[in-house]
Amino acid sequence: MGIKLLLANDHIEGIRFYDAYRKNGGYSAAEKALKLAAGDIVEEVKKSGLRGRGGAGFPTGLKWSFLAKPEGVPRYLVCNADESEPGTFKDRYLMEFIPHLLIEGMIIASYALGSNRAYIYIRGEYAWIVDILEQAIAEANQNGFLGKNILGTGFDCQIYVQRGAGAYICGEETALIESLEGKRGNPRIKPPFPAVKGLWDSPTVVNNVETLAAVVPIMNMGGTEYARIGVGKSTGTKLISACGNINKPGVYEIDMTISVEEFIYSDEYCGGIANGKQLKACIPGGSSVPILPANLLLKTAKGEPRMMNYESLSDGGFATGSMMGSGGFEVLDEDQCIVRHTLSLARFYHHESCGQCSPCREGTGWMKRILHNIEYGKGKMSDIDLLWDIQRNIEGNTICPLGDAAAWPVAAAIRHFRDEFEWHVLNPEDCLKSNYGIGRYAEPLETA
Ligand SMILES: Cc1cc2nc3c(=O)[nH]c(=O)nc-3n(C[C@H](O)[C@H](O)[C@H](O)COP(=O)(O)O)c2cc1C
Ligand code: SF4
Repeated sequence: MGIKLLLANDHIEGIRFYDAYRKNGGYSAAEKALKLAAGDIVEEVKKSGLRGRGGAGFPTGLKWSFLAKPEGVPRYLVCNADESEPGTFKDRYLMEFIPHLLIEGMIIASYALGSNRAYIYIRGEYAWIVDILEQAIAEANQNGFLGKNILGTGFDCQIYVQRGAGAYICGEETALIESLEGKRGNPRIKPPFPAVKGLWDSPTVVNNVETLAAVVPIMNMGGTEYARIGVGKSTGTKLISACGNINKPGVYEIDMTISVEEFIYSDEYCGGIANGKQLKACIPGGSSVPILPANLLLKTAKGEPRMMNYESLSDGGFATGSMMGSGGFEVLDEDQCIVRHTLSLARFYHHESCGQCSPCREGTGWMKRILHNIEYGKGKMSDIDLLWDIQRNIEGNTICPLGDAAAWPVAAAIRHFRDEFEWHVLNPEDCLKSNYGIGRYAEPLETA
C-alpha cells in the first residue's frame, strides 16, 4: 500500500462533516499554523517542495513568496476548482468527500498570505458540491476556524463559493479572475501577474484544490518530512484520476515513486486493461498533454522504466515524452482510433476557445474540420502536413496556454500515429466501416 496523505481518511463514515473530520485529527494543522508567523508557513511550504497540482507544477512556496504586499491593499486567495480538463476529476473527489481538508488548507494559506477573503471558484456543473462546501464553511465558522478573530489570534477570514457557468477557459487563472469579477472569462495578458495585480487589481494567489489540501499534511508533518516522500522534484503525493479502457477507473493517491506499468496493471490501482485487450496509448496528464504510445509510455526513449512523476513523464521532451499535467490519466486500448480521439479533443478545444487570439480562434476550428474530414474518409495526404503546420503556428503564439493545449494533442497524435492518419486517407471506404475509422454514424462533410 502506498503512502496516503490526502485520502488517508476518505473511507471514514461521516468524514465529510466537521465532527468526524475533527475527531480524526482535522484542524490540528490549522491550530499549529496559526501559532506561527506567516512567513514561517511560507518557508515550510517552500521546504516541502510542493508543486502546484493544477497542471503547470509551479513551486507553491515560491508562488506565495511572490505575492506583493502594498500597504492598505487587500490580498486575496482564490481556489481554482474549475476542473474542466477532460479526464481530470480528482478535485471533485476531494471536495465531495473530504471538503474540510480544502477548507483547512485555505485557512492556513490565507493566514500565510495575509488574505481576509478567500474564494472557491468552482465549475458550474459541480452544483451539488457547492452545497457540500457551503455546509463545511458554515461548520468551520460555527467552530471558530473561520470568521472574526480565529482561535483568538486576531486573524479574520471568510471563504466564499462562486459557481462558474461551464467554460473550460475559466480554469485559466486570469480568465477565472475576470469571471469572478463578474465579467466574461477572457484571459488577461501577463504581466502583470495575479501576484501583483489580480482580483479587483489586488495581489492574488490562485491555487488548485489539491495544492491547497496538501498544505494540511505539510503543516502536520513539517515541510522537510513531506519532501522526503516521492523523488527528486516530485515531492509528496499526487492524486491521479484514472479513466478509459481500464478495469478500475477512479481517483488514486500515489507517492510518485511507482512506475507507469505498476500503476496500470496492479490491482491496487487501475487493475489492467479492460476486457483482456492490449494497451495502445495513454494521455497521462489530462487532455492537453501529448499522447504516448504504449512503448514510450512504459519505457522512456533511454529504455528506463517510465515512472509516475513530473520528471519521468516529461523525460524526452515532447519528442518522446509527455507531462504530469493535472493528473488526468486516460488509457486507450488497441481498438481505439487515434484520429477519432484527436478529433474529439479538437472539437472540445475549438468549442472552448474564448476567441481573443486569431491563431487559437481560427486554428482550433481549422484543425477540427480537417480532422473531421480525415476521420470520415474525405481527407487528403496533404491534410496531415497541413494539420502539422497549423498546430505549430498556434503553439506559443497566443495569450494563454489554451492554444498550446489545443496544439499538443494534434502534434503528438501525428508524431506517434501518422500511419493511422495515412490509413484513413488511403482507405476512405473502410473508414466508415472499420473499427479504425469508427464512423458508426454518418456526419456531414466539414469544409476545411
Ligand atoms: C485553459 C486552462 C484551463 C485550466 N484549468 C484549470 C483548472 O481547472 N484547475 C486548476 O487548478 N488549474 C487550471 N489551469 C491552470 C491555472 O491557470 C493555474 O496555473 C493554476 O490554477 C494554479 O494553481 P497551482 O499552482 O496550485 O497549480 C488551467 C489553465 C489553462 C490554460
Ligand atoms: S489562446 Fe485561445 S483561449 Fe487563450 S486567450 Fe487566446 S483565444 Fe482565448
